[in-house]
Amino acid sequence: MTISVSSAADFHVHLRQGPMSSLVTPHVREGGFSLAYVMPNLKPPITTTEQALAYKHDLEKIDPRVHYLMTLYLSPELTPDEIRKAKKAGIVGVKSYPRGVTTNSDGGIESYEVYYPVFEAMQEVDMVLNLHGEVPSDASANVHVLNAEPTFLPHLFALHAAFPRLRIVLEHATTRAAIEAVKSCASTVGCTITPHHLALTVDDWAGQALNFCKPVAKYPDDRQALRQVIKDGHPRFFLGSDSAPHPSHAKTTCATDHGCAAGIYTSPILLPLVTELLDSFGALDKVEGFVSRFGREFYKVDKLAPALRDGDLAVVLQQVPPERLQDNRVPERYVSADGQDVIPFWAGRGIRWEIVK
Ligand code: NCD
Ligand code: DOR
Ligand code: ZN
Ligand code: ZN
Repeated sequence: MTISVSSAADFHVHLRQGPMSSLVTPHVREGGFSLAYVMPNLKPPITTTEQALAYKHDLEKIDPRVHYLMTLYLSPELTPDEIRKAKKAGIVGVKSYPRGVTTNSDGGIESYEVYYPVFEAMQEVDMVLNLHGEVPSDASANVHVLNAEPTFLPHLFALHAAFPRLRIVLEHATTRAAIEAVKSCASTVGCTITPHHLALTVDDWAGQALNFCKPVAKYPDDRQALRQVIKDGHPRFFLGSDSAPHPSHAKTTCATDHGCAAGIYTSPILLPLVTELLDSFGALDKVEGFVSRFGREFYKVDKLAPALRDGDLAVVLQQVPPERLQDNRVPERYVSADGQDVIPFWAGRGIRWEIVK
């Protein structure tokens, strides 16, 4: 059995910099994708149009076969003028990280209001706001990794109410509460879902550092809600892998103050992985919508860049027969030119779908 997917688009991926970037960037195409929406959390973060364009140039040098859509990192230095400049330069979105929520917080009340002039400009020029939808942990308020996302949702509603025409994406949703929240919003609010959150629950990362990511995978009932909304073919829910490579030593030794590095690496196996997962819960017929059509429509990719029209890449996947499963295993590791090794999700495991070369 085979299926065909045209112009798969990953609407949330970390492509890093330096030798790690040289290793992981070509894996986007290898994993079946022709479009990457690139996260800005480099060191230092991408906060200006110049930086974003230079980064895009670096990525194109590494692998020109993929279309890179660029983002800026939300910070208090970002101005409405910079937003207008970024829009003209073709930059698509702005990513907000948890730390942003408390900036300029007044009397402990978390707020995005300091950024309202920036959001106003984004709404005006039609840029996308990408939200990392978690509030920082706070023991005194009983906020922790398991309720950080539901606790964030009032911010989503407040932003959507204040900027109803601003397109907002709640990134890497992990809870039933988040799915319901996005559904209840109007058509300007979308949501990405990662493959690992379709696979994992708390039991899979408690004690297994390689499966640790932010937001953490939640309860089986939450995972069920993520699967169901895909099965429903809801057009505002689409793939963002959040593929986030870290060298294995950073993942498996808790040497830093922050503990083990958060992030799961899926780029090289992304399309087979997503296909196997959707197949596992009876949504094989939703693969194309989830990985290609819905995200492209939400992001108006055709309008952004007519050259990115379909036809640039059609991938055929075939089901791997049981007797060949053990020959179709995910590699144990990938190694960069400077010796950093990255262990992918499902390392060593037989995968049930493969790209037909
Ligand atoms: C990011 C990082 O560490 O670069 N972390 C995260 O989102 N979990 C962004 C940040 O610096 O806040
Ligand atoms: O698990 C994660 N890893 N979550 C994030 O939001 C950031 C990412 C990274 O950059 O490693
Ligand atoms: Zn994030
Ligand atoms: Zn991310």
